Amino acid sequence: MTISVIGVGYLGAVHAASMAELGHRVIGLDVDPQRIASLQAGRAPFHEPGLPELLRTGVDTGRLRFTTDYADLAEADVHFLGLGTPQRPDGPGADLRFLHAAVDSLVDVLAARGGAPTLVVGKSTVPAGTAREIAARLSAINGVRLVWNPEFLREGLAVQDTLAPDRIVYGVQDPELDDHLVHLLDEVYRPILERGVPRLVMSFESAELVKSSANAFLATKISFINAIAEMCEVTGADVTDVARSIGMDERIGSKFLRAGVGFGGGCLPKDIRAFLASAEEHGVRSLAFLREVDAINTRRRTRVMELAWDMLGDLTGRRITVLGAAFKPDSDDVRDSPALDIAGRLVAAGARVTVTDPAALGNAAAKLGEDVVEPDTARALHGAELVVLLTEWEEYRHLDPWTTAALVAVPRIIDGRNVLTPSDWRAAGWEVEALGRSTPADSRDVDPASRGQRATLVGSVT
Ligand code: UDX
Repeated sequence: MTISVIGVGYLGAVHAASMAELGHRVIGLDVDPQRIASLQAGRAPFHEPGLPELLRTGVDTGRLRFTTDYADLAEADVHFLGLGTPQRPDGPGADLRFLHAAVDSLVDVLAARGGAPTLVVGKSTVPAGTAREIAARLSAINGVRLVWNPEFLREGLAVQDTLAPDRIVYGVQDPELDDHLVHLLDEVYRPILERGVPRLVMSFESAELVKSSANAFLATKISFINAIAEMCEVTGADVTDVARSIGMDERIGSKFLRAGVGFGGGCLPKDIRAFLASAEEHGVRSLAFLREVDAINTRRRTRVMELAWDMLGDLTGRRITVLGAAFKPDSDDVRDSPALDIAGRLVAAGARVTVTDPAALGNAAAKLGEDVVEPDTARALHGAELVVLLTEWEEYRHLDPWTTAALVAVPRIIDGRNVLTPSDWRAAGWEVEALGRSTPADSRDVDPASRGQRATLVGSVT
């Protein structure tokens, strides 16, 4: 089949390359000429394991092409919409401008095709009601129909999540009548479906809500364990013990229970805000807890600052090394990254900050300045008075406490992702703080009155 993918950012580029991998002829479109030039040369414009290989194969075999010109999409039978839906500049809702602009341009191309049967497939994360609105616009053109097919890919695992997803969801205008659309989209995904991946058909609104609810649930799970981490800090418990134990209950599950500096990235933060805004527009008050999910998440960043002040006092002029800038490992994405946010707060507090990261330093430098970043881990650590681990890259998980101690000026570390073994680091002479992991010794030292004060402090910061 001939397929177009409109919008080739994180989602669309991976989708385009994966569809070519399935054997389709694919043309990817974006309004950013630099991005298109890079993709057309077979180069991924961002860090995503497995993507460069798929791009090179797709481009070399001629199955995958890229363009900035909508007229080049005329030959495609299926058009995927992979546009970003960021947070609106003026509020918490989703900004649908890019999506609507793409539909405007696509409508012109489709109208010129003169009624040839065409399927448009929405993949962007949108508030419930958006698909029905777009379907109404497309229905003005003979033979053009819409399916909403949300994407659940995780950055860093995007290729795997696209080619071997947990499930595929189709939202259609009328689940009773739209059988032929389902069969058409099944043709696109045939190799995946043949491997037994479940495919669910439902209304537009249900499909839109599947995506919003999945992200809201994941964010809530992370903030839940981070709220427990706050409780651990004031009672002397260890959140990693609590998480491991409750995760063994199959009804709860151990995934997304890693306490630390919380969630970031281009999806979870903006998606829970957009979901809450949409719920409130509909008069649904019960999703108001998502505001607290967001607030708990932000408080974890503030907590790292409190720990830094506890350990160093005034931060002015103090040398602090931040390990990690990306919002999670195996990504160069710094959008709403807890690591970058905390690094920025440390800079604002007057510290002499050095940030290092295996993949995200280009993006970090664009936000914090070239003088703050250092690609070499050993050089970044040299002379540090405090090390703050904020993105759990493999390299940082396996740092040796003894050799690392020899690099820094004073062996002090905050483990913002709970990936180090504090006892090993303490044995090597380090002063260690971690989020939600008081040591039994710490808890013995803290008298109940000061625990109460700390609880007020932690609870009052938003
Ligand atoms: C997420 C969803 O997982 C994906 O299904 C959706 O399509 C897009 O949004 P992604 O943003 O790539 O994917 O990252 P994810 O792996 O979900 O992690 C999100 C954030 O949560 C990261 O900052 C990560 O560090 C953090 N996280 C994750 C935790 O703090 N604790 C956890 O236990 C898990």
